[in-house]
Amino acid sequence: MKARKFLVLLLVMALLGSLVAGCGARSEQAADKPAESSGDSSGDTAAKAEPIVIKFSHVVAENTPKGQAAIMFEEKAEEYTDGKVDIQVFPNTQLYNDDDVIAAIQQNSVQMAAPATSKVSKLFPEWTIFDFPFALPSIEKVQEAMESEEIGGKLFNMLKDKQMLGLAMWDNGFKQMTLDDRPLYMPEDFEGKSFRVMSSKVLEAQFKALNANPTPMAFSEVYSALEQGVIDGQENTLSNIYSKKFHEVQEYMTLSNHGYIGYAVITNSEFWEGLPADVREGVEKALDETTQWVRDNGERLNQEALDNIKADNTLTEIHELTAEEKKAWMEATNPVYDMFEEEVGADLINAIKALR
Ligand code: SIN
Repeated sequence: MKARKFLVLLLVMALLGSLVAGCGARSEQAADKPAESSGDSSGDTAAKAEPIVIKFSHVVAENTPKGQAAIMFEEKAEEYTDGKVDIQVFPNTQLYNDDDVIAAIQQNSVQMAAPATSKVSKLFPEWTIFDFPFALPSIEKVQEAMESEEIGGKLFNMLKDKQMLGLAMWDNGFKQMTLDDRPLYMPEDFEGKSFRVMSSKVLEAQFKALNANPTPMAFSEVYSALEQGVIDGQENTLSNIYSKKFHEVQEYMTLSNHGYIGYAVITNSEFWEGLPADVREGVEKALDETTQWVRDNGERLNQEALDNIKADNTLTEIHELTAEEKKAWMEATNPVYDMFEEEVGADLINAIKALR
C-alpha cells in the first residue's frame, strides 16, 4: 500500500514537471515573435511585407541639385509604391565616393547612385563626351544631347554590358574656375598651376592644354587639398563650390561656364528587373517627376549658390569671362577634341561638336 502511494506521488510530480516545462517552452517561443496587436482583433492579422530597401549613395551635400533631387525621389517613390520601398539616401560620400560606387552598383551593395558622367568614363571612355571644353552652350543643348539617340541613347545602351541600367540623367549645371592667388582671365593665367579634376582623361587634357597641372582627386578630398595648398585651384558648379565651402579657401573665381556637370542615375540591372512590376512602376514615376524637377530647378539652385557666395564675401574677386577671353580659352582648348577621336569615337565627338 505504501509502495502504491509512493508510485502515485511520483506520477503526479512527473506530470506537474512536464506542464511547467511546456509553459516555459511556449513563453520562449512567444518572446521570439513580435507582439500581436492588442487592439481590434476583428480582421487583418496578416503581417505587412517588409519594404524593399533601395540604398542611394552620392557624394554631394543636400543643398545641391542632386542632394535635393535624391530627397524628393525618396519621398515620391515611397509614396507612389505605398511604402513597398524604403529609399535610404546616403549623401556626402557617407558610403562610397563616385569612383567606388560604380563597382558597388555592379555588386548590388547599393542599388542606386548618380555619379557625374565624367566618372562613368573610367569604365566607358565614351561617357567623357560631356567633358569637352565649351561643348554645351546651354542647358537646352545638354538636354538635346541627353535625349538624342546618337549621344544619350548610345551611352545608356553601353551600361547593360556591365550589370548596370541607366534610369535617368539629372542636371547639376555649368562649371566655374577658382584659384588661390591670381585671377584667371586669359589662358596664360593657368600656367604652372595645379587644378583638381574628376577622373576623366578629357578634363586632364583640358588643363594640360592650358599649361596647368591636372590632379585627379575624389570630391570629398578637395576642400582640405585646397586648404592645405596641395592643389591651387579647381573647377566645379556653383552649388558644389558653395555647399562644400571651396570659396572660403580660394581667392578668385571666374564665371566661365566652360564645362558641364550632370549625373547618370544608375542601378544594378538584375536588382531592377527583379522588382515587382507595380513597385517598379511607382519608382519610375517618382524618377520621372524628379528628373523634370531637377531640369526646372538646377539653374535656380546654382544661381542661389552664387548669391550666397557673394553674400559671404570671402573671395577677392568674382570675374565674368568676357567674349574675348572666352574666345582665347576656346582656341587654347580646341585641340582636345581631336586628341580623343580614337578613344571616344568620331561619331560621338561630331555629334557633340554639332551642339556647340
Ligand atoms: C558631384 O557633383 O557629384 C561631384 C562632382 C565632383 O566630383 O566634382
